Amino acid sequence: MNIVIETERLLLRTFTPEDAHLIYELNLDPDVTLYTGDPVRNETHAAEILEKVILPQYALYNHGRWAVHSKPGLEFIGWCGLKTRPERDYEIDLGYRFFKHSWGKGYATEAAFACLKYGFEKLGLQRIVGRAMPANIGSLRVLEKCGMHYIGEEMVDDHPAKTYEAINPLIH
Ligand SMILES: CC(C)(COP(=O)(O)OP(=O)(O)OC[C@H]1O[C@@H](n2cnc3c(N)ncnc32)[C@H](O)[C@@H]1OP(=O)(O)O)[C@@H](O)C(=O)NCCC(=O)NCCS
Repeated sequence: MNIVIETERLLLRTFTPEDAHLIYELNLDPDVTLYTGDPVRNETHAAEILEKVILPQYALYNHGRWAVHSKPGLEFIGWCGLKTRPERDYEIDLGYRFFKHSWGKGYATEAAFACLKYGFEKLGLQRIVGRAMPANIGSLRVLEKCGMHYIGEEMVDDHPAKTYEAINPLIH
């Protein structure tokens, strides 16, 4: 397990090509993909997302979406991480997605905050954005709880999105 970030209750590790079934199982619940706009069709499709989108980010940018495991049993509970979007002027997006059984325990906030801290302190990133659909109250709350600032609503990937940003306090 290639652990990137450790928090009090969580481990974040890089995904591997063997993890397609995890991505697929996570996306099977329609409540999980209700506000994400990217349903996964089957395990082959999940493998494609892994190989073409998730894994290349690690090599290209030294960050990406990371698999999240809860301590002490190391159960896979979802993912969280930073994604560079070349098509959006290389902005870096904070994202997260968890199995329903792990909602409401503060895991998303714990993981997202740790990713922001890692992005600023370890990777020296200048700016990180976070977005959620206006109806996705839980996700918006996570961004707020991480200390990100609301900068406006816009259409992103054909969906209305509320955008938040955080600027690296260590860079002047
Ligand atoms: C959004 C999501 C990541 C939140 O995960 P979580 O682990 O339950 O979040 P946390 O426990 O850290 O909760 C953070 C805050 O949001 C609140 N919250 C979470 N879900 C909520 C909901 N559905 N409605 C209202 N508030 C909610 C919590 O109460 C908490 O606020 P509080 O501390 O003031 O009480 C989770 O619901 C999820 O994976 N959803 C599906 C995927 C998704 O939508 N990802 C985001 C796409 S932009």
